[in-house]
Amino acid sequence: MTPTEFDVERVRKDFPILARTVHDGLPLVYLDSAATSQKPLAVLDAERAYYEQHNANVHRGIHVLAEEATALYEATRDKVAAFIGATDRREVVFTKNSTEALNLVAYAMSNAETTGPEAERFRIGPGDEIVVTEMEHHSNLVPWQMLARRTGATLRWIGLTDDGRLDLTNLDAVITERAKVVSMVHQSNILGTVNPVERIVARAREVGALVVLDGSQSVPHLPVDVVALGVDFLAFTGHKMCAPTGVGVLWGRHELLEVMPPFLGGGEMIEVVTMEASTYAPPPHRFEAGTPMISQVVGLGAAIDYLTELGMPAIAAHEHAVTAYALDALATVPGLRVIGPPTAEDRGGAISFLLTDDAGRPIHPHDVGQILDERGIAVRVGHHCARPVCLRFGVPATTRASFHLYTTTAEVDALVEGLHEVRRFFSR
Ligand code: ALA
Repeated sequence: MTPTEFDVERVRKDFPILARTVHDGLPLVYLDSAATSQKPLAVLDAERAYYEQHNANVHRGIHVLAEEATALYEATRDKVAAFIGATDRREVVFTKNSTEALNLVAYAMSNAETTGPEAERFRIGPGDEIVVTEMEHHSNLVPWQMLARRTGATLRWIGLTDDGRLDLTNLDAVITERAKVVSMVHQSNILGTVNPVERIVARAREVGALVVLDGSQSVPHLPVDVVALGVDFLAFTGHKMCAPTGVGVLWGRHELLEVMPPFLGGGEMIEVVTMEASTYAPPPHRFEAGTPMISQVVGLGAAIDYLTELGMPAIAAHEHAVTAYALDALATVPGLRVIGPPTAEDRGGAISFLLTDDAGRPIHPHDVGQILDERGIAVRVGHHCARPVCLRFGVPATTRASFHLYTTTAEVDALVEGLHEVRRFFSR
């Protein structure tokens, strides 16, 4: 499918913010969707209707509003399960975002120390290993560093090739019998790389390690099926998939969630409470302590309906075509170097790059971002919360353009023209 076959202009009309102008009348060119996506009217309407018509706390009331709110909240659980190919709605846990979902697993693992033998699979200590990759966003690195520090386990990682892919040449030496958990990103937020999950799952299975997948940048852009991927846990966040901020998901295989210790304690995650001790509710409620983010969950349900109606394969094909177009177009800018895979194969629409002036002097990404912003073009600059990737490539920061279902090739053209302008400015 080419970008024109997917009716991107019709899609754009669903997103009110895309019609606004910035800096006294310039059209907005929003190329920062990896940071957060824009929201369609259907999502905004769903949240508003929830507050106007149904607002009440969930799972706690017997009145009409409480029942309606609970039904709406739980309906999203079904939608999420269907969206990611899960066979059991109890496998869907609502969290604040991907970061909380990943912390949930990491804290559950150290909490296994204080629970019974059923949690053996999660127990971790000195001599055990946690494996991540060098392309993790901080949200899938720092929680595991903290787990290693709390428990005495060792953190190891899979390195990167020069074109921004995982270096799997020594995979068996990195994931050994000592590995308790392997946690990896599906699609990199900084490099755009889509990782070969099956290959790593196969090795993790050989050594009996749990596999956690960070789907923050894949679930919003690709059809994702947890059964086909064969992972144990999947974390993702609503705000990158057209839903509100403040809601994320941890999906976990039911037999694991059933024996996984809780992370946060509080109301609604319990069975029986005395002054001395408590027993815990079965999943998913064991992992949803306190009043949850109800309107955001309702908004997530509307976002899933919206994406499903357009079709994730069509969305993925559109974004793939825009990404291929952008990689070709960026290659025409002198002094531009992409950090990450240079072709669109197994790659998503987050493109990081460096720029030099006519004399070959580096132009700092913050300057690039500022001049682009003056032209109404929004990109992200910095280390993109994936600082080890910048260290690996020996750069302090990059400029990143990132796409979504509403991105057009005309916006890519505007970016390229903007980059020529940046170079002209600095080459004067
Ligand atoms: N993870 C988000 C990004 O890549 C915040 O920008």
